[in-house]
Amino acid sequence: MRLPAREEWAGVHAADLVEAIARRESRRRYRRGALGLDELAFLLWATQGVRKVLGQGTALRTVPSAGCRHALETYLCAMNVDSLEQGVYRYLPVEHALVGVSRAADLRGRVAQAALGQTFAGLAAVTFVWTAIPYRMEWRYGPAAYKVIALDAGHVCQNLYLACEAIGCGTCAIAAYDQDAMDRLLGVDGQDEFTIYLAPVGRA
Ligand SMILES: Cc1cc2nc3c(=O)[nH]c(=O)nc-3n(C[C@H](O)[C@H](O)[C@H](O)COP(=O)(O)O)c2cc1C
Repeated sequence: MRLPAREEWAGVHAADLVEAIARRESRRRYRRGALGLDELAFLLWATQGVRKVLGQGTALRTVPSAGCRHALETYLCAMNVDSLEQGVYRYLPVEHALVGVSRAADLRGRVAQAALGQTFAGLAAVTFVWTAIPYRMEWRYGPAAYKVIALDAGHVCQNLYLACEAIGCGTCAIAAYDQDAMDRLLGVDGQDEFTIYLAPVGRA
């Protein structure tokens, strides 16, 4: 499913950067309202959006990445997003599109359970889940791959914090989760690709 492009974000009125930085905090309580598809498109662009395709399988994005390897993938557990059926989706940055992964039954319950009972992860409108594909870094950085993957994830999540603040939403980084349960929910094998970080998003 193609997402609204930047010039189509009619409903997105972002506060300025200074305000967003000043207001940033981890928010674990969300209002019930749905997230607009244009707002979701903005958050995906802010966290992994492509600025320029360089060819040879590399692209510059809105976040930095060691060696421009971009070893992270973004999955969404979409629970209350306009025009999006409840389910698990994967973001395709170059196409700026979503592909459906699964329609897990009791998605809210499974997300909260995989987040080790942190119920706010299941009460959000959407929970971002980032996975790592370590080979994209390992062939180049060897054992240091793990360090740079973790550093990359920090940049992505901080952009999500600031982008959320800018549009009246809130998020909270989550690193405490059940590895197997989260990997199973996404349908990744836990070896060549595994969950590394979560961030529920909802209206503040
Ligand atoms: C790497 C990382 C992991 C975190 N994991 C969790 C978590 O599992 N659950 C949670 O409620 N908050 C988690 N947090 C949020 C921190 O608790 C929060 O950033 C800290 O208390 C400071 O609050 P602030 O973000 O509002 O400034 C995490 C933050 C980071 C950076």
